[in-house]
Amino acid sequence: MLSGRSQLSPKLLIILILLHRLQVDATTVTYKLNDGHEIPVVALGTSLGHLPDGTRVLSTNHSLARAVQWALEAGYKHIDTAPLYLVEDDVGLGVRNFVKNNAAHRKDVYVTTKKNGSISSTDYLETWKGMEDAVFLNLTKSIGVSNFNLTQIQRLWSNSIIKPAVLQTEVNPTITETELIKWCKEHRVVVMAYSPFGGILGRKTNAPPPRADDPLLIGLAEKYNKTVPQILLRYLVDRNVLPIPRSTNKERIEQNIDIFDFQLTSEEIAELSAFNRNYRLRNFVNWYDHPQFPFERKSLSPGETPYKA
Ligand SMILES: NC(=O)c1ccc[n+]([C@@H]2O[C@H](COP(=O)([O-])OP(=O)(O)OC[C@H]3O[C@@H](n4cnc5c(N)ncnc54)[C@H](OP(=O)(O)O)[C@@H]3O)[C@@H](O)[C@H]2O)c1
Repeated sequence: MLSGRSQLSPKLLIILILLHRLQVDATTVTYKLNDGHEIPVVALGTSLGHLPDGTRVLSTNHSLARAVQWALEAGYKHIDTAPLYLVEDDVGLGVRNFVKNNAAHRKDVYVTTKKNGSISSTDYLETWKGMEDAVFLNLTKSIGVSNFNLTQIQRLWSNSIIKPAVLQTEVNPTITETELIKWCKEHRVVVMAYSPFGGILGRKTNAPPPRADDPLLIGLAEKYNKTVPQILLRYLVDRNVLPIPRSTNKERIEQNIDIFDFQLTSEEIAELSAFNRNYRLRNFVNWYDHPQFPFERKSLSPGETPYKA
């Protein structure tokens, strides 16, 4: 039994140092994209959500810039954003401060961003040609899609020169997207999971179970000496999905990347997936009229806040 550093043999010490380094390096784990580039496996989410009346929450006193900087200092290498979130200036400020204060480089930070969210009747195959041009013109390295259903991504796949590298959509134990993820895996499209906690951490939502106090989640958290949010993020990583947890709290930001020193078993993944009800926390009610709306147009239950894009 080890009782102190002085009793460690040099060989064991080297192994421990290597293990420690492995743990640190784990925050730089990447998935390989089908275009040859690499994408870091956890991204900080930067949409600050909406007030009950649908107004977008904005960053105050650069709170989001601080969150971005904390995240990068904690080992995140990837920030997810969009013009629609109205936070891009804060994302830029956070990245700049991180680079300046840590003698880092802009190229060390992977940024995923999107179009402006306006509704257009243009066929997405046509829009995609513009995305391909952005690659041909070296304006971006990789291109992907968000909120496409299986039929749509298959149609895009068959009618594109550059194939989508990622698909960003909602995934968590109440919407497991098994068929979509299987297809993406077969085509080496990386699935990025937004709302990785679903309605699980909230108390007031109308989301189906589980809640954070569910015995299965508590049991897994105790078994692995982790928190329930960490179990939910690891559930995604263990399904080869890229989670996008959002937080502006330093401690929770750090917690959400500290998920690389344990692994769920396939039985535990199956138990969590059994909560699936194809339940979407995010409904995008303001896109319902679009002929290519990708999901079921669900009527809201009483008390449920409409989610606008
Ligand atoms: N492509 C799309 O259409 C789309 C749609 C929705 C979202 N997204 C992206 O996905 C990101 C994440 O999705 P989301 O914002 O809907 O939800 P989310 O990340 O599932 O949940 C965010 C909520 O969880 C809390 N939280 C985070 N970590 C926690 C922890 N360790 N313990 C307890 N609570 C914790 C946060 O509060 P605190 O801040 O107080 O910690 C916040 O209230 C967005 O920010 C955005 O970048 C994309």
